[in-house]
Parts: sequence; structure tokens; C-alpha cells
Amino acid sequence: MIFHVKCSIATVLVFAILVCSCVAASPAKGEKTADKAMEAAIQVVQKKCKVVNPVDQSNRDLLDVLVNKSNMLDKTFIPDELVTVDIPFGESVTKDRRKMRKDAARALEKMVATMKKSKLNVIGISGYRSFQSQLYVLSGYVKTKGFSKANRTSACPGQSEHQTGLAMDIGSTGNHGVLGLSFGKTNEYKWIIKNADQYGFIIRYPLGKEKITGYSYEPWHLRYVGTKLAGVLKKNKWTLEEYYGDQDQDLK
Ligand code: DAL
Ligand code: ZN
Repeated sequence: MIFHVKCSIATVLVFAILVCSCVAASPAKGEKTADKAMEAAIQVVQKKCKVVNPVDQSNRDLLDVLVNKSNMLDKTFIPDELVTVDIPFGESVTKDRRKMRKDAARALEKMVATMKKSKLNVIGISGYRSFQSQLYVLSGYVKTKGFSKANRTSACPGQSEHQTGLAMDIGSTGNHGVLGLSFGKTNEYKWIIKNADQYGFIIRYPLGKEKITGYSYEPWHLRYVGTKLAGVLKKNKWTLEEYYGDQDQDLK
């Protein structure tokens, strides 16, 4: 009798383990569909993203480099001196995305520390992104919005400033570190508009300049260009595109 009970318990256990391992090995139906949708989105991105003017090798490490929808970086390009930025980040932010070029990182640390003294709390969301990583970011948006809409806020691989290591998307802790337009209403953003140039940063995609930059208003996207150029851009209310379109400026 005891043998029988033991035996049937063992049979049930073995059966349960077998069923569990089968379920774990085969992805759920939704998961398979999601993967397929992502694969399809990646193909759309690869088809729709054009090869445009390559950024010259001698320019791509400069702090004033222009990377946009008509000037792109090579897929193998990784900037020198990527370092971890010592500011608060959202918990899920990966190691790579906490990085920026050294000059930019040190300037951002200084700015965030100054802001903190005025009880303004900035949180890092996304810094350096490789070519490959940008492919996945854009594809993720393409999956839900389609290419045209997605490409208004997310660059094609090679065409993102995040690959330069000079850009950082930010949020405010008061705003739960949300990446979005609501950041433009925070006191942190108001401070940045007034003072970020002194630390070498600009808001790269301002309101009203969408047709010039090729991107929607992104209050969260900071770009490091150095204090001198940031001051010139602020004074003239120029985007980097407008600055490069005018051949007669001092800093050319
Ligand atoms: N959000 C900017 C345009 C980028 O993806 O680089
Ligand atoms: Zn960004």
C-alpha cells in the first residue's frame, strides 16, 4: 500500500516536471507573435532607412559634429573615451546607456549637481547607443506606430546623436523619470532652458524647429556641444542645422 502511494506520487511529480519543462521550452503564443512583429519591423527599418552622406572620419569625434537625417555615422563607429556618467539613472537603464563621451559626462555631472542644490532632480534615461542598439530602438517604435511616425522621434541607425556619445535623454524624478513631453513642463526643464548652455548643452530638438531638425519637439534630448558653441546657438536661437547652414559664423 505504502509502495503504491509513493509510486503514484512519484508518477505525478515526473508528469508535472515534464509538463512544466515543455511549457517553459516553447514560447507562449503572444511571445511568438511579438518576435515576428519585431522581425518584420526590423526589416521595415532596414528597407526604409536611407544611406546618406557619411560623416567624415576627421569630424566624427568632434564635439560639434552634425549627425542627422542627412549625415550619418558608420555602423562600426564607437566613440573614444566613453565613461559612465555619475548621475542618478532609472533602475532599468543598462550599463552602456549610462555612458557618454568623457567631456560630456563630466559637464553633465556638474550641471546635475548644481541643479540638485536648487532641489531640481534630473534622472538619466538613455545616453550612448550603438548602431545596433538604435536599430532595435527604432524598430520597437515602428512595430507600434509605423515607420513615418516612429522616425519623427527615433532616428535611423547611424543617424542618431546617441551613437556619438554626446547625447543624453533625461527626465525629472518629480515626473517619475518619464521620457516624454511632460518633462517640458517641469522646473528642471525651465532651469535647463535658461542655464544648460553654461555647461555646454543644448536642447537639440526644440519646439517650432521640427521642419529644420527633422524631428518632433523633444524636451528630454540634451546634446553636448561645448560651452562656446552652446552660447552661440542659444544667443541666435539656432539649431545645429541652422548653424551649419550659415557659412559666415565665427565658429565655422
Ligand atoms: N530621439 C532622437 C532623434 C534619436 O533617436 O536619436
Ligand atoms: Zn535622445
